[in-house]
Amino acid sequence: MSTQQDTGPDEDGLFRTKTVEQSIRDTEEPEHALKKSLSALDLTVFGVGVIIGTGIFVLTGKVAKETAGPATALAFVAAGVVCALAALCYAEFASTVPVAGSAYTFAYASLGELVAWTIGWDLVLEFALGTAVVAVGWSGYVRSLMDNVGWTMPEVLSGPDVAVGFGFDVLAFALVLLLTVILVLGMKLSARVTAIVVAVKLTVVMIVIVAGAFFIKADNYSPFIPKAQPQPAGRGLDTPLVQLIFGYEPTNFGIMGIFTAASVVFFAFIGFDVVATAAEETKVPQRDMPRGILGSLLICTVLYVAVSLVVTGMQHYSQLSVTAPLADAFKAVGHPVYAGIISFGAAVGLTTVCMILLLGQTRVFFAMSRDGLLPRFFSVTHPRFGTPYRPTILLGVAIAIIAGFTSINELATLVNIGTLFAFVIVALGVIVLRRTRPDLHRAFRTPWVPLVPILSVAASVWLMLNLPAETWLRFALWMVLGFVVYFVYGRGHSRLGREGSKAEY
Ligand code: ALA
Repeated sequence: MSTQQDTGPDEDGLFRTKTVEQSIRDTEEPEHALKKSLSALDLTVFGVGVIIGTGIFVLTGKVAKETAGPATALAFVAAGVVCALAALCYAEFASTVPVAGSAYTFAYASLGELVAWTIGWDLVLEFALGTAVVAVGWSGYVRSLMDNVGWTMPEVLSGPDVAVGFGFDVLAFALVLLLTVILVLGMKLSARVTAIVVAVKLTVVMIVIVAGAFFIKADNYSPFIPKAQPQPAGRGLDTPLVQLIFGYEPTNFGIMGIFTAASVVFFAFIGFDVVATAAEETKVPQRDMPRGILGSLLICTVLYVAVSLVVTGMQHYSQLSVTAPLADAFKAVGHPVYAGIISFGAAVGLTTVCMILLLGQTRVFFAMSRDGLLPRFFSVTHPRFGTPYRPTILLGVAIAIIAGFTSINELATLVNIGTLFAFVIVALGVIVLRRTRPDLHRAFRTPWVPLVPILSVAASVWLMLNLPAETWLRFALWMVLGFVVYFVYGRGHSRLGREGSKAEY
């Protein structure tokens, strides 16, 4: 293949693409290569490890109480469908372009450098803030366990959600730093720790479902979809964008409430896409990637629907706790011991979520740096551990600080919008790559292209529209900052751009 074809017809332009062969070749340079050690089972464990977290353990209660009632189970189904459509697209890409960087790499191979940069920058937001959100959620559970044995953390060290005035969440900060060290030491160690923690988390979720089922009261399901209620006036930018655009009277509950709820509980599914970021470290990505992604998504969807049905059946939705709903539902039916076990499992489980989000984050950064869009300094792997230790340390410290100083709520919706945006680009990428590179071997093919990718785009955009207008504004600001960085640094330093111009001489 000639260099001309490698870089596409628009070598110096914003739409130069990196071919799939070129992406794979880059991973073969010894200094910049990651170890190939993961199987389909490792990937599924990895997926379940990151997917089940703050979403089901914390957001279920808030959403059921304020937006959807028992129909929260339907919100999980709706969000699950959006993710399944995206997963079908992710799986094709991940099995065709088995290199680090997830949607970023896929976009580089199909939609061009500017889009790839956009998506990479967007994924940095998703993973970094996602890590911070989960670390703060973890810290809440740990403090609640400490309270049980009579230790109380001073408010000033409990973070801005708890403290009045200045607050620093020292536990969330410490967790992120500890996980950073584990990741620097290597993939193998992380995968083993992950497997143990995932087992604890699944056990706790099964306890909620099986033990909780005995306490369900049919009355609590009535009405299953509570009647729509007007939202309090003056919420302004806090209103879902779709309601502002189409001039609806903003409401909670009812059918629209299910979609608003779905746009929030979507957070509970984030992570299956992270499985794709480990493609380069997978033994047989063509076979194992689709299995890992779709398998972990399916398991989680079933568990979420079951958990939300059980919890809203145990306690009337209006009575649910918004901080620890799964544990508190057991307290409400007179079983504090179960509540303690659940809190402990949640605290343990959230650790892996945090770790894998942090891993995904460093891998995207690594891939962008290897391509020269960010300084190449960050893509040299550790001589002994084979890990991208430089971005891991840089980002780990930055995220630890964000987790220490930031409140959980606003960040979660920002993470959701970023992730949904990535889904849109991946789905479009499947369509484009089928046209531009029909010859490529695809171990997994998305069914009914372009119908499934188009449905995936529509479903993701619909959920995005159900997020608050404020979230859209913050997201726009982040993306504008990204374009500034690209035009000031990335465009001129792009490895692809440089190789393209060298070839002309
Ligand atoms: N899906 C992950 C969670 O719920 C991010 O915490």
